Amino acid sequence: MFRKTPGTKDILPDEVSCWQEIEEATRNIFSLYNYREIRTPIIEEAALFNRSLGESAEIVQKQMFLIKKDKPRPCAQERGKDAYALRPEGTASIVRAYIENNLGKAAGLIKVYYIGPMFRAERPQKGRLRQFHHLGCEVLGSQAPNLDVEVITLADNLLKAYEIDGYKITINSLGCAKDKQEFTRDLRKNLTDKLPKLCADCQERFKGNVLRILDCKNEGCIELVKGLNIRQGHLCPECKGHFDKVSAGLGSLKIDYAVNPYLVRGLDYYTRTVFEIIHNDLGAQNALGAGGRYDNLVHDLGGPDLGAIGFAFGVERLLLVRSQESGVRSKKLVYLITLGEEAKKEGLKILDSLRKAQISSDTDYEDKSLKGAMRRANDLAARFVVIIGEDEIKKGAVTLKDMASGEQKEIKQEELVNYVTHSYLR
Ligand code: HAM
Repeated sequence: MFRKTPGTKDILPDEVSCWQEIEEATRNIFSLYNYREIRTPIIEEAALFNRSLGESAEIVQKQMFLIKKDKPRPCAQERGKDAYALRPEGTASIVRAYIENNLGKAAGLIKVYYIGPMFRAERPQKGRLRQFHHLGCEVLGSQAPNLDVEVITLADNLLKAYEIDGYKITINSLGCAKDKQEFTRDLRKNLTDKLPKLCADCQERFKGNVLRILDCKNEGCIELVKGLNIRQGHLCPECKGHFDKVSAGLGSLKIDYAVNPYLVRGLDYYTRTVFEIIHNDLGAQNALGAGGRYDNLVHDLGGPDLGAIGFAFGVERLLLVRSQESGVRSKKLVYLITLGEEAKKEGLKILDSLRKAQISSDTDYEDKSLKGAMRRANDLAARFVVIIGEDEIKKGAVTLKDMASGEQKEIKQEELVNYVTHSYLR
């Protein structure tokens, strides 16, 4: 028997409705903020990610699923040029698509969202998969601090729409490229004599991506780093001003957030505002989502010089915390139970009339007992059960049970469609 590969998941029919609820809420909220959907390919040139995320990023170093090209370039210098990659994230692809399709030509500000699979060759554990799904957005074309406020507020509103609570929003500013460079240099200087005490991963990070030492989860590293007493002192006046406006804007909208000067994010492209949304129920992999500004990436990939910001949630992680919080919801489904041969014939017509009226409905066509059929309706989380037997046929009626309220009554068969339609609207 074949089995799924480690770190992947079958999303079975029972779970798909939860995915669809999330997707529907996502589309509604994004459209409120005037974002439009974008769909980019799942494979890209691997070099796109090396360039965007940075050669020293963990994703590039260890986690990319690479597909060798048929005809390797004879003298490729850059690592990754000879390969495609299954996309590990969406931001780089969207910037590539923006530049390649000249999306900025018609409109000043481009606001897009996406939902789709991403791939990272990580060691699987709770909340960490090799194929997982991002639900995110990117806005290209502005450096305005109020855009940062919009994007963080949008993330907060999405979580509210998914009925998730108990999450924490933390924000920080990395400053511009120059600030980041100086900060990295100072940090390396301050950590040099502490190097032997850092964990093995951080000793590696010290060489390539020293900022990541700040958000290492190792107890020893946390203690060491605390001693450095990091603040936003490395920000130039413009970046400090930007961050102050973002904080003030979030405050004016009463968004519950905290500043965490140790939040750095693992990807090279980030500048200025970065943020992360965590949930304690997730355990070790506690980030529900994360994002930030990447004001240099469009230009670095060959496009114009413009500000950009975005974020992504991990859909599987949203579902992990959501399923713990929300019980089974009833679906807009009518379940028909027929008792006897005549009722089966009548049942065909009832189902047909419901479906013609766009009302989702089902039956099992088997001769189940009433009890067994009710159990099935319950398993399907049906909102209404319609029962038809000899008595009902004689009267031209059906028995209708509202599974949400438990109320049961007899109504005329020809009134069924109207009755259900109006109940759904209420
Ligand atoms: P990221 O932090 O690498 O950011 O991923 C965003 C979210 O994806 C994480 O917070 C987590 O919920 C989920 N995630 C990441 N890796 C896994 C995994 N192996 N299994 C399950 N879920 C996972 C980005 O990718 C950036 N592109 C976000 C962004 C958009 N920044 C600006 N624009």
